[in-house]
Amino acid sequence: MLTTISQVGDHIGKEVKMGAWLFNKRSSGKIQFLQLRDGTGFMQGVVVKQEVSPETWDDAKKLTQESSFYVTGMVREEPRSKSGYELTVTGIQIIQLAEDYPITLKEHGVEFLMDHRHLWIRSPRQQAILSIRNAVIQGMYRFFDERGFYKVDPPILTPTAAEGTTNLFHTQYFDEEAYLSQSGQLYMEAAAMALGKVYSFGPTFRAEKSKTRRHLIEFWMIEPEMAFVEHEENLKVQEEFVSYIVAYVLERCRPELERLQRDVSKLENVVAPFPRITYDDAIELLQKEGHEIKWGEDFGAPHETAIAEKYDKPVFITHYPAEIKAFYMKPDPGNPQVVLCADMIAPEGYGEIIGGSQRIDDLALLEQRCKEHDLDVSAYQWYLDLRKYGTVPHSGFGLGLERTVAWICGTEHVRETIPFPRLLNRLYP
Ligand code: 4AD
Ligand code: MG
Repeated sequence: MLTTISQVGDHIGKEVKMGAWLFNKRSSGKIQFLQLRDGTGFMQGVVVKQEVSPETWDDAKKLTQESSFYVTGMVREEPRSKSGYELTVTGIQIIQLAEDYPITLKEHGVEFLMDHRHLWIRSPRQQAILSIRNAVIQGMYRFFDERGFYKVDPPILTPTAAEGTTNLFHTQYFDEEAYLSQSGQLYMEAAAMALGKVYSFGPTFRAEKSKTRRHLIEFWMIEPEMAFVEHEENLKVQEEFVSYIVAYVLERCRPELERLQRDVSKLENVVAPFPRITYDDAIELLQKEGHEIKWGEDFGAPHETAIAEKYDKPVFITHYPAEIKAFYMKPDPGNPQVVLCADMIAPEGYGEIIGGSQRIDDLALLEQRCKEHDLDVSAYQWYLDLRKYGTVPHSGFGLGLERTVAWICGTEHVRETIPFPRLLNRLYP
């Protein structure tokens, strides 16, 4: 049985065999230091000339960056090393000596790294980010499972738009036109009427001509939908959810956060409840600070950042004007110009991580809104049906996985938070 780097602590003083790649190598004449990686972690193997066979010494010498091999050795505790352990190598069995590896330890330009994304993900930094992404996903599943939500999988090929028609990805569905899903929400509303509390997690697609550090063309969204839940409770679920995920990552990914040099004190602060500000108050605040923005306009990244800077936790911006939000959002009974919605803005300038709302549950109003948004009502018959057969107040939200991971990791750009980013002008690799 092979051991992994993450398990060596269980084998102190014993001989283990591992499958590994060479991340880096240093040599000081009679000793070679092999930086090993195996996906579970990184650790140092030490090859001492006097203690190994001439073949093992020569094999170690031949190893190039990213060569693959089996390595046997004794596990030793080593407080000076990052992993806390070191391997005294006794044998090496080469699988392949890698060709000249394009990603060296020097600095590379972003486009070069993106062209080599299939290899770039092997680096310690990328391994840390992808491992935190995994923890966010696992934490998310646990949160909803503990609260009795059903996971429901909406389709990816759809006949209708959920989030406006401007950024749809068109595709051919035999003789019909179809779109790649922008959001599973409409289907999750149907599922909530069947199962009560549901959530989906899947890829969503937006043909957005935005080249910013927050936009992906293909991103993953978590979309809970809850029957009998209104605006206020929807916000409670969101702040609990985000606090839970952050705590989950803090508990499991300390070494990774450290590798990313993340200031964890900022994350430790993320505990519900979160502050709230209405759209009206946010506009006033921005105007006071000299931003050129009028009531009725949507916020851009600089506006979101200016608002987020006032708080050390994520902040909800609530009650946006109906005209700049999606057709399905329920008007505020006290002021129908605005809707019962909220965007959650992450701290430190990471922007909107959640969009959510209470949904219109009245048939006539929903039909009217469809028409106002130039939607072909006949294509939404199934969605309108939900308001004919036992309609109930219901709410939900969508959390963008990559923006959330970017914020938790403290990475500048969302392109590093998804294994193979699809960006404007990038479909390769
Ligand atoms: O605010 P959005 O568009 O909301 C919806 O799609 C709703 N149907 C969700 C729901 O209520 N079920 O998107 C939700 C989140 C955003 O807050 C953002 O985090 C992320 O999805 N997102 C993107 N992430 C990366 N790249 C993009 N192009 C994104 N567009 C949205
Ligand atoms: Mg939004």
